[in-house]
Amino acid sequence: MKVIILAGGSGTRLWPLSRKNYPKQFLKLNRNSSLLQQTVERLLRFVSVEDMIIITNKEYEFHVLSDLKVLTLPKSSKFNLILEPISRNTAPAIAIGIKYCIERLGCSEDEVVFVCPSDHIVRPVERFVEYLRNVEEIAKEGYIVTFGIKPDRPETGYGYIKTGDRLKILCNGIECYKVERFTEKPDKETANKYIDQGDYYWNSGMFAFSIGVMMEEFKRYTPEISELLSLNFDSVLAKFVKMPDISIDYAIMEKSSRVVTLPMDIYWNDIGSWDSLCDLFDKDAFGNIKIGDTLTLNTKNTLIISNKRLISTIGLEDCIVVETDDVIMIARRGEAQKVKDIVNMLKQRS
Ligand code: GDD
Ligand code: MG
Repeated sequence: MKVIILAGGSGTRLWPLSRKNYPKQFLKLNRNSSLLQQTVERLLRFVSVEDMIIITNKEYEFHVLSDLKVLTLPKSSKFNLILEPISRNTAPAIAIGIKYCIERLGCSEDEVVFVCPSDHIVRPVERFVEYLRNVEEIAKEGYIVTFGIKPDRPETGYGYIKTGDRLKILCNGIECYKVERFTEKPDKETANKYIDQGDYYWNSGMFAFSIGVMMEEFKRYTPEISELLSLNFDSVLAKFVKMPDISIDYAIMEKSSRVVTLPMDIYWNDIGSWDSLCDLFDKDAFGNIKIGDTLTLNTKNTLIISNKRLISTIGLEDCIVVETDDVIMIARRGEAQKVKDIVNMLKQRS
């Protein structure tokens, strides 16, 4: 089994901490290690360095290399690193990863690949690894395995999986289901409907499949990707700009009839917003999370992140205050999703 780690996203949902030139996967949010480092360490419990392929944009090469450098690894072990010349979203990233597996690692069509985002928190690690153990068997049956998380709110930033029939095959004793419908990022009304119906899971963004199956699906649903894949690895990379800009969810998952899901009962957080970041930390007696130099009076349910300056608050409730070298952001909790609007306004200003 090979593992592809996707580390080329440029999300700004945690602006001003995450930026286009310093996205979420490189942030140290919950520990002294970045989310990418935590992802690599988690997966090294399952495969060796040689079986891991990290795919990122060439703009982030420095961040990836400095993150990898500090990991304790067996001597002379070498990561497989693919640097995309331009961002084309996750479908082309996975496609180039598969090409690399075939051409550079000598993988056959039967080889199973596990694709993993690099910006999530997953725990406990032991339990996560247990879930992965039998996934290979299911993928070898010709399925594309997704990993479902029981939703607790009508989040519109995730894909939703409607479960269908149960598969005969068990994954480590755990039941797997055919996916009746995969809906990427529905609107609020639809997400509410799904939550009320109850038989939906969030797509956690991780996938397992055999190379042959994914090549067939690319051919069926995205012939423009498939055609490029007929070239050799260097040529695919050189012509990467010709790849369509599309995520694997819209390109394949919403369309393929081979998708199944393994419900996972673990803590999983995509940290897609300031509000979901608040979930990660212990709060003081007033419900506050205070990081760095802070002084608060009559302040409740507020997240304060100070970088270089003392932040003092008086009579503040349900807010998020973040200070970085060049920005101070103050938002009401529940409205912090709108940082994307601020980012857009900033783009227009420059
Ligand atoms: N190499 C590479 N190149 N990686 C990329 C690129 C790219 O162009 N674009 C995104 N990634 C990486 C991100 O860094 C992240 O680790 C992962 O791919 C997923 O991309 P996101 O942009 O974070 O996706 P999302 O969160 O909006 O949606 C996906 O994940 C959700 C769960 O977190 C979808 O799969 C949803 O269905 C899912 O619910
Ligand atoms: Mg994400």
